[in-house]
Amino acid sequence: MKGLILSGGKGIRLYPLTYTCAKQLVPVANKPVLFRVIEAIKEAGIDDIGIVVGDTAAEIKNAVGDGSRWDVKITYIQQESPRGLADAVKTAQDFIGEERFVMFLGDNVIQGGISSLIQQFEASGYNSQIVLTRVVNPQQYGVAVLKNGAVVRLVEKPRDPPSDLALVGIYMFDHNIFEAVNKIRPSWRNELEITDAIQYLVDHGYSVHPYVHTGWWIDTGAPGDMLDANRLVLDELEPRIEGHVDRDSKLIGKVTVQRGAEVLGSVIRGPAIIGEDTRIVNSYVGPFTSIYHHVLVEKSEIEHSIVLEHSRIVDIPQRIESSLIGRNVEIVRSPLLPKAYKMTLGDHSKVGLL
Ligand code: DAU
Repeated sequence: MKGLILSGGKGIRLYPLTYTCAKQLVPVANKPVLFRVIEAIKEAGIDDIGIVVGDTAAEIKNAVGDGSRWDVKITYIQQESPRGLADAVKTAQDFIGEERFVMFLGDNVIQGGISSLIQQFEASGYNSQIVLTRVVNPQQYGVAVLKNGAVVRLVEKPRDPPSDLALVGIYMFDHNIFEAVNKIRPSWRNELEITDAIQYLVDHGYSVHPYVHTGWWIDTGAPGDMLDANRLVLDELEPRIEGHVDRDSKLIGKVTVQRGAEVLGSVIRGPAIIGEDTRIVNSYVGPFTSIYHHVLVEKSEIEHSIVLEHSRIVDIPQRIESSLIGRNVEIVRSPLLPKAYKMTLGDHSKVGLL
C-alpha cells in the first residue's frame, strides 16, 4: 500500500499563524502535526508516501526533506491550486498507479494511530474504507448516513445534518477512486469534494466500508482545535527530562523538558512540554501547555497554551491562558511612559485585555 498526505490548502482559519507558516507545520505537543501523520503511516507499515503540496511547498519540503529521518520515501506532488480533496487525488494518480492507498489529511490528529485500520483494509476486498466518528457539530464536516451498517449517503458540510457521523480525514481507496474523481463536478464552494467521489463509489456499486472510530480525533483547522489537540496529545506523552531543572524548581505531573532547555526557579504543572533551548525563569507553566524551542518565559505565568519558537514572554503580571502565540512574538512590560498598551499586531491577531 502507499500513503498520500494532503498538505496543500490555505489555513485561513488559523490566521495570523499561517500567514507565515503552513498549517500542517504548527506543532502540537512540540511536534508538527504533519510529522505525526507521517509517523502514523510509517507505524502502519507503509513507507512509500506522497505529499500533495500547494503554495507552502518550499516550507514543507524544507521541514520534511526526503523522509530518511523516518526511514520512508517521500514524493512531493504539486497541486496547482487548492481545488478540493478529490482534485488532490487526481493530481496524485501517477504516483499511486494501481496500488491501494491510505489518504490522510495533513492537519488531522487521531488517537491510537491507523495500524489496525490499514490491516483491516488490506485483508479485505473493499474498494474503500472510510473512518467516521460522532460529533456535536456535524455542519463543519463531511457527514455519512448509514443504513443497516452500510453507507448510503454522504454530504459535505450540510446545513441540516442528516446524521452526526462525521468523516474523519483518513480514507482508504483502491484504483476505482480515480474513475470517481474524474466523473464528479465541483461543489457549490467550487471544490472537487472527496465526499462526492465516495458517494459516486456507493452509487456505482463499489464497496465502501464504514469504520466508526471511538477514540478522540481532531481536525486542527482552528485555534480552539489546536489547543484541544495539544491537550489530548500532551496527556498521552511519556514524560522525559533531557534539559536542566534547578533545585529551586518544581515539576508536578507529566512534564517533558527537552534537550538544552533550562527551568530555573519555576513551577511546571503537567501535562506540559518545554522545548529545546527554551528558558523558563521564575515562572509558572500550567497544565496543557507546550512551549516550543528557543523561547524565554521569565517572571510570568502561562497555562493551556501553545507558544512557538523564538518568542519572549517577560514580566507579565497577569496569567496568560488559552492562547496561541506565534513565532518571534514579544510580550513584555513596556518600561517607558506613557503608561499604555503598545502593540505591533499582524492582520487577524486577537488580543484579550483585562
Ligand atoms: O477533517 C475532516 C474533514 O476534512 C472532512 O470531514 C471533510 O469531509 C473534508 O472535506 C475535509 O474538510 P475541511 O474543510 O476540513 O478540509 P480542508 O480544506 O481543511 O483540507 C484538509 C487538508 O487537505 C488540509 O491539510 C489541506 C489539504 N488540502 C485541501 C484542499 C482543499 C489540499 O492539499 N488540497 C486542497 O485542494
